[in-house]
Amino acid sequence: MKLLNLIFTGLLVGSTSAAEIEPKVPVKLVEPRLFSFAQMCDTQLGMGGYEHDVKTFGLAVTRINKMKPDFVVICGDLVSKANDKSWADFNRIKAGFKIPCHCAAGNHDVGSKPTAESLQAYRENIGKDYYNVEHKGYTFVIANTQLWKAPLKGESEKHDKWFKGVLAAAKKKVSPVVVVVHYPLFVKTSDEKENYYNIPLAKRMELLKLCKENGVVAFLAGHTHKLVVNEYKGIQLVNGETTSKNFDKRPMGFRWWDVATKGKMVHRFVALEGMDK
Ligand SMILES: [Fe+2]
Repeated sequence: MKLLNLIFTGLLVGSTSAAEIEPKVPVKLVEPRLFSFAQMCDTQLGMGGYEHDVKTFGLAVTRINKMKPDFVVICGDLVSKANDKSWADFNRIKAGFKIPCHCAAGNHDVGSKPTAESLQAYRENIGKDYYNVEHKGYTFVIANTQLWKAPLKGESEKHDKWFKGVLAAAKKKVSPVVVVVHYPLFVKTSDEKENYYNIPLAKRMELLKLCKENGVVAFLAGHTHKLVVNEYKGIQLVNGETTSKNFDKRPMGFRWWDVATKGKMVHRFVALEGMDK
């Protein structure tokens, strides 16, 4: 029996890559904490069952309010099918946050190939799809990865110019940068081929270089619907758990980040409370 158990455990470990399981990363800061924030991913109302996702997003709002972070970010795919009802439900639940909530746009929000119309609809219903927020010496850069994944003439150039400008300004101020987006740059290795889950290789390399040269310390994304924790030349790249559907069968919840000065940041999982009620 023991032998069978060992074989079974070995098979389980062997079938899961290190980047896809709960990572063995420090969860406590060594330095004094400056602030905390929550990272939500893919609230995606309609992905895990509409009523389910409405309920879990509400549970997340309650849990996050109770924990009193400085703010929350949502890494895109706010809704599954963008329409008047889903936008209205999303905005109604989001309004329950007692702290600021900064949203990034996902492929389900503005389309896998964004258009002038889809961007306009997002901007009217949710707000800006790219902007930056200064917080206690840090610069949070909320970008629109759809404009990197499937460039749109007249929009992607502006977005790129803005992104470079914000990073340059942060570097000048020696402000550590946290990028908040929907698509991760890569999932397994920085040089992997392009697929549904990452950014085209040439663009990815340009962005990794920009991030490295301009003080980016963390790159937070969603889209994978599974926990992915990577590191690139000292930059933490983290895709967290969703509240809609997790393909890796992890519980519904979000990532909690504790931040110290000089780009020191640690994260841990927080499960939703009240899931079985
Ligand atoms: Fe999604």
